[in-house]
Amino acid sequence: MPLQRREIAPEKTAEQLELCERIRLRLGPGERFAMVDTYGCQQNESDSEILRGFLRAMGYTMTGDEQLADVIVVNTCAVREHAQMRVFGNVGALTHVKREHPERIVVLCGCMAQSEQIREQVLRSYRMVDLCFGPNELWRFPELLERTMQVHGLPGNRGRVFEAGGEDAVAEGLPRMRDGSVKAWLTIMSGCNNFCSYCIVPYVRGRERSRRSADVIAEASALIAAGYRDITLLGQNVNSYGRGLDEDTDFPDLLRRIDAIPGDFRVRFMTSHPKDATEKLFRAMAECEKCAPHIHLPVQSGSNRILKAMNRQYTREKYLALTERARELIPDLVLTTDVIVGFPGETEEDFLDTLRLTEEVRFDSMFTFIYSPRPGTPAAKLEDPTPRQEIQSRFDRLVESANAVSAALHASQEGRVVRVLIDGPGRSGDYTLSSRTDGGRLVHLKGSESLIGSWADVKITGSNTYALFGEIVRA
Ligand code: SAH
Ligand code: SF4
Ligand code: F3S
Repeated sequence: MPLQRREIAPEKTAEQLELCERIRLRLGPGERFAMVDTYGCQQNESDSEILRGFLRAMGYTMTGDEQLADVIVVNTCAVREHAQMRVFGNVGALTHVKREHPERIVVLCGCMAQSEQIREQVLRSYRMVDLCFGPNELWRFPELLERTMQVHGLPGNRGRVFEAGGEDAVAEGLPRMRDGSVKAWLTIMSGCNNFCSYCIVPYVRGRERSRRSADVIAEASALIAAGYRDITLLGQNVNSYGRGLDEDTDFPDLLRRIDAIPGDFRVRFMTSHPKDATEKLFRAMAECEKCAPHIHLPVQSGSNRILKAMNRQYTREKYLALTERARELIPDLVLTTDVIVGFPGETEEDFLDTLRLTEEVRFDSMFTFIYSPRPGTPAAKLEDPTPRQEIQSRFDRLVESANAVSAALHASQEGRVVRVLIDGPGRSGDYTLSSRTDGGRLVHLKGSESLIGSWADVKITGSNTYALFGEIVRA
């Protein structure tokens, strides 16, 4: 069945930009501040750059101080309950700002805003929120903000704008205010069609759709020309890039075309679903000089029974074979993963399968999560007799094992000389610089901040569970 793929007409995005300019003129001279607070994954980080791009076009200066901001945007994540609780806590705390400055505008957008149940909760109990809209409405943020400004202060619900729905479309040509000048996100696709049984993302982000390869290549070329040196291609499952496009392309092809862009940069990507990771991908990674030898390949569980209940569509054996092949083909591959502990019905034996798998693969780093039921997903209907304490103990055992593996792998790097990209100021004691190896390992360095943005050869002199420490040999 051919997939329907819609694009927002370029005239419509152009109208949004014109509207930004009209808002800027109407608000007049004088400095105005806006703040964008981001939760969740890189996709949201990337969307926040668009929110800031629009706000800047409206004449706002960005601030990190909520006491100062005329517009406060909270870009939310719904993936686990904990993330939602943090959002509600922080939004609730804005009550006092609103009380003192009722003219200020509070916006709640992102994945939580797409859930009907949450919108109702916000409408009822979070009176400080003036505008609420889901991810599909992002491209028309100026129009929604303008409407909010018009009705602002009117009595009752008329004083607030709540929008969700929208089509699962691709919008090009949106403004962007990027966070740094060394590393850049590049969204190549949105949405997800996988419906893992525990996951809210397909419900809040809609159906998967890819950007045209020409648009992706044009954006990558512009970033490289502007001096960006580390580009991360983003999608919930980059391995299915290209499906539904009226061109014959796939993710390995895209990677090769980006690699062929002249310039001094490296390219990485997130996230790969194991069911769609192929030898073709690993070969492209190995052959593309500028492709980082890093793959984030979330395994979620090492038990075939649980993988089936999660609807992951691969087995433990397939996963092990994949990672083995990837390591054969890609020298110095850095392999990272996500694991969920305490999926409904997980037994001690299932958990031990997970633990054994991770000890066999030896991941460079692992993100571990305790299962969080998401209303509306199939898994949320499953009963789970396992006591919370038991799940916590499994989680602790897994983290302890993962940390020991990371520490050992890091220690094995000591004495080596590796290439890094110095990407920012340091945050670790007297180590003044932060850098990443091609594989993405964090290396703390000492040196002048003038080196930020450049490559260096460094000797690894120390390590811990989370990072390496090094000395610059040649900058
Ligand atoms: N598209 C990516 C994952 C996006 S969500 C992928 O499939 O790899 C990031 C991670 O959050 C997932 O890999 C999973 O480990 C975790 N996660 C998602 N839903 C969760 C839930 N309901 N409870 C706990 N962890 C969850
Ligand atoms: Fe969620 Fe699965 Fe899609 Fe990842 S692939 S976003 S875990 S449904
Ligand atoms: Fe969260 Fe939405 Fe990303 S739910 S993990 S911000 S896609």
